[in-house]
Amino acid sequence: MINMVTKVLPHTIYVCLLLSAVLQSLTYGFIATATLVAVLLLVKVRQPESTSNAVEEILPTNKITVIAHRGCGHDAPENTLAAFREAKNNGADGVEFDVDFTRDGIAIVIHDHTANRTTNGSGKISRMTLAEVRKLNASAKHVHKDQFPNEKIPTLEEAVVLCLELQLKMFIDIKDSSNIQKTIEILRFLFASHPQMYTNAVVCSFHPQVIYAVKQFNPKIVTGLTHRPWVLSRKVDGTEFEGPWHKRLLYPILDVLLEWSHTAWLWYFCGNNVHLMFHGIASSRNIAFYRDRGIAVIVWTANDAHQQEYLRHTLNVSYMTDTMHPAGCRPQTN
Ligand SMILES: *[C@@H]1O[C@H](CO)[C@@H](O)[C@H](O)[C@H]1NC(C)=O
Ligand SMILES: *[C@@H]1O[C@H](CO)[C@@H](O)[C@H](O)[C@H]1NC(C)=O
Ligand SMILES: *[C@@H]1O[C@H](CO)[C@@H](O)[C@H](O)[C@H]1NC(C)=O
Ligand SMILES: *[C@@H]1O[C@H](CO)[C@@H](O)[C@H](O)[C@H]1NC(C)=O
Repeated sequence: MINMVTKVLPHTIYVCLLLSAVLQSLTYGFIATATLVAVLLLVKVRQPESTSNAVEEILPTNKITVIAHRGCGHDAPENTLAAFREAKNNGADGVEFDVDFTRDGIAIVIHDHTANRTTNGSGKISRMTLAEVRKLNASAKHVHKDQFPNEKIPTLEEAVVLCLELQLKMFIDIKDSSNIQKTIEILRFLFASHPQMYTNAVVCSFHPQVIYAVKQFNPKIVTGLTHRPWVLSRKVDGTEFEGPWHKRLLYPILDVLLEWSHTAWLWYFCGNNVHLMFHGIASSRNIAFYRDRGIAVIVWTANDAHQQEYLRHTLNVSYMTDTMHPAGCRPQTN
């Protein structure tokens, strides 16, 4: 690194002086040089994209891929093996599920940070051991609990093994950006012991730094960057997050920056493969933006029959759903 700096610095000063002379201003010369260096750095430290046709195998361009979000949490207890089997039986091409870590460092499949909403237990997952997590009843609070009475929270590896067995594509959502090292370690283990994952799994995250780290670790892993407008300052229903005033002031500004970054450079910088687009902003123009750049698009999450038909027939785009039996008025048949 130091070697590179001493090599490049004299050239940089020379370019700076030259540009200053041309622009007749030292300040403009400096700004122009800094911009040039930033662009060169961006190109240089950019992550390579997956070189194989793995993306095409996972998301074939001539087909609409239907992905069961959390294994279709409306049809069966979310993020359980029963949900994945049910999704497969109902015709899903893939499942999406979320990763968290227990106190003893085991990767498990659950969406929330606590056990409260989906199990008969309560408290933070990160404070429980795997043995404690395994005691919880993961169907306890589901509407179809009688149909799926014996569900436990699965480990990440159990979920991966079942998806490979059922030939379900998997979208592994890394919710947390504070566990990047642990995440890379478990991915190292899983992709080494189940190499079929290269053509069956997409590692997804809201956090660009996670996608960047995964690509840096192994560019052959197919990645998905998830996006939702106002993700830092507003909940998915549009209401503001609570918090101290300075966060409520800062986060909308960061959201605007993030919004710009997504289209301006993040997809390129991360070497990303799949864009997971929020359903509220799915349009042919937004979809074409990513497709034109060689990035596959998935819209999340469409639960209404009309919306699914619109995505399928009008926008011609793959999507995630919480149910394989979407309700909504059917067109009249006569
Ligand atoms: C949908 O898009 C795919 C890939 O771009 C294309 O092959 C297919 O013909 C399109 N289908 C419709 C109905 O436009
Ligand atoms: C949750 O349910 C399981 C299985 O029925 C049971 O063994 C466990 O004791 C329950 N845990 C709590 C905290 O109720
Ligand atoms: C989960 O339940 C525990 C115990 O009832 C409670 O203290 C905690 O606030 C709950 N957490 C959430 C996020 O609801
Ligand atoms: C899990 O909870 C549901 C709902 O209370 C119950 O019907 C089922 O028997 C429980 N499962 C186990 C293994 O105890």
